[in-house]
Amino acid sequence: MPATSMDQLVSLCKRRGFIFQSADIYGGLQGVYDFGPLGVELKNNLKAAWWRAMVYERDDIEGLDAAILTHRKVLQYSGHEATFTDPLTDCKKCKNRFRADHIKDGKCPECGSTDLTEPRQFNLMFKTTVGPVEGGDNFAYLRPETAQAIFTQFKNVIDATARKAPFGIAQIGKSFRNEITPRNFIFRVREFEQMELEFFVKPGTDMEWLESWKENRLNWWVEQGLNRDKINVHKIAPADLAHYSKATYDLEYEFPHGLEELEGIADRTDYDLGNHTRYQKDLNISAHVHDNKDSSAKLALFDDETKKWYVPFVVEPSAGVERGVLAVLTEAYTEEPLPNGETRTVLKLKKHLAPVKVAVIPLKRNNPEIMKMAHEIKATLLKTGIGRVMLEDSGNIGKAYRRHDEIGTPVCVTIDFDSIEKQPASVTIRNRDTMAQERVNVADLPAYLKSFFLEK
Ligand code: GAP
Repeated sequence: MPATSMDQLVSLCKRRGFIFQSADIYGGLQGVYDFGPLGVELKNNLKAAWWRAMVYERDDIEGLDAAILTHRKVLQYSGHEATFTDPLTDCKKCKNRFRADHIKDGKCPECGSTDLTEPRQFNLMFKTTVGPVEGGDNFAYLRPETAQAIFTQFKNVIDATARKAPFGIAQIGKSFRNEITPRNFIFRVREFEQMELEFFVKPGTDMEWLESWKENRLNWWVEQGLNRDKINVHKIAPADLAHYSKATYDLEYEFPHGLEELEGIADRTDYDLGNHTRYQKDLNISAHVHDNKDSSAKLALFDDETKKWYVPFVVEPSAGVERGVLAVLTEAYTEEPLPNGETRTVLKLKKHLAPVKVAVIPLKRNNPEIMKMAHEIKATLLKTGIGRVMLEDSGNIGKAYRRHDEIGTPVCVTIDFDSIEKQPASVTIRNRDTMAQERVNVADLPAYLKSFFLEK
C-alpha cells in the first residue's frame, strides 16, 4: 500500500469530524486547530494511555496539573527569556517571514528571491496582560513547555508526598509557541499539548536513566500502534542541544511530510532546579547560571547516606499530543481493495485509542421493537466500561459499516429481524479489520466484548 499522504489525513479529519482549522468561518487562525467530536475522543484516549503508563502502572511517579499563565521570573531563571528563540529572516520582495534555518539555497520558499534580510533572533513566547492595566511589567507568559511548573512546584510536591529520588512528576497540558512558520497540519502549531515527565535522579545515575527512558518511550509508542521500523532514534549532536540539556534523544517518526521529531528525551541535569533555587552557594550545583535572589525555595533533596543536601538531575521524556495523534492516524490509515472492485478506507487504530468502541446498528429505524432492543443493548454495553458506545441509526447498514470503518470503530453490533423474532435473542458482530461476521447471543454480549477489548 502507498504511504499515507497528508491530504488523505486532512480530508478524513475534516469529513469525519476529527480536526478542524480554528476560526474556519473567518478564514482560519494560522497554526491553531480545534478537535472535533471524534478528535477529542482520540486525543483523550492517547492522553489516558500515557497517564496510565506513567502514573497508574508505576509506583514512582506523581501527577500535576499546573496553570498555563506563568510568572515572568520563572521563564527568566529557566533561560527561556534569553534563549528560547528561532532565527527569523524576511523576504524583501514578497514580505513573507521564515525561519532562517528552514531556508534552502538562500532562496525565499515563497517567491524564490535571494533578497533576504540577515537572520535575527525571535523569541517564541506569547505574552498576555495580567490585570486591568496594560503595559509595563503587568504581563505573564503563556507557558512554552509544561515542565517549568514541575520544577517550581518541586518542593510542594516533595513536602506533600515525602518522595525520594528516583521519582517523577508527570503532567499533560497546553503549551504555546509563536512559531514563525506553523506548518504540516497539526505537526507544527502555535497552541498544542505536551505530555511531560520530569524524572528526578541522583547525579551520576542520569545517563543510565536516559537510556532506560528512551527504551521505555520507544516501546510505549509501539504499543500505541506505531511501526517500530518507522521510528528513528536520533542522538542530538552536542552543538544542537537545547540550552538546558547535556544529552538528548529524539524519537523521530515517518510522518507524511518526512522523518521528524515526535518526542524528545533529554538529560536536563540540575539546570532547572538549580536555577530556581535560592541557596545555590550551599549546594554543589553543576549547571547554575544565576545567583537567584528572587526565589524563596531550596529545590533539593536530603541524602540519608551522605547527610547532605543535593539538587537531583532530571531526565525528561517530552511528547507532543498533536504529533502523537498525527502519528497514530498516519499509521492507522489504510485503503483496501474490495472483491467488488471498490476501495474501503479503514482506520486500523489500536482498540484502546478508537474514538468509538462499539456501534450499535438497528437494521430498521422505524421498527419499534428493533429500536427498543438497540437502546437496551447500548445501555448494557455502556455499563461494562469499555468506552464510548454509539447508537448508529442512519438506516443504511452499508453506509454505517463504511462510516465506522473510516473512523476506526473496532466492532459493529447489528440488530435485525432474527434478533427480535428468534430465541435466544442474538445479534451480528462485525469485526472492523477482518470484516468477519458472527452471531452472538445478546446475553453473552457484555462478556464477549469485555474480553475482546481486553485483548491487545
Ligand atoms: N520540555 C521540553 C520541550 O518542550 P521540545 O523538544 O521543545 O522540548 C517537546 O518539545 C515535544 O513537544 C516535541 O517533541 C513535540 O512533540 C512537541 N512540540 C514542540 N513544539 C511543537 C509545536 N510547535 N507544535 C506541535 N508540537 C510541538
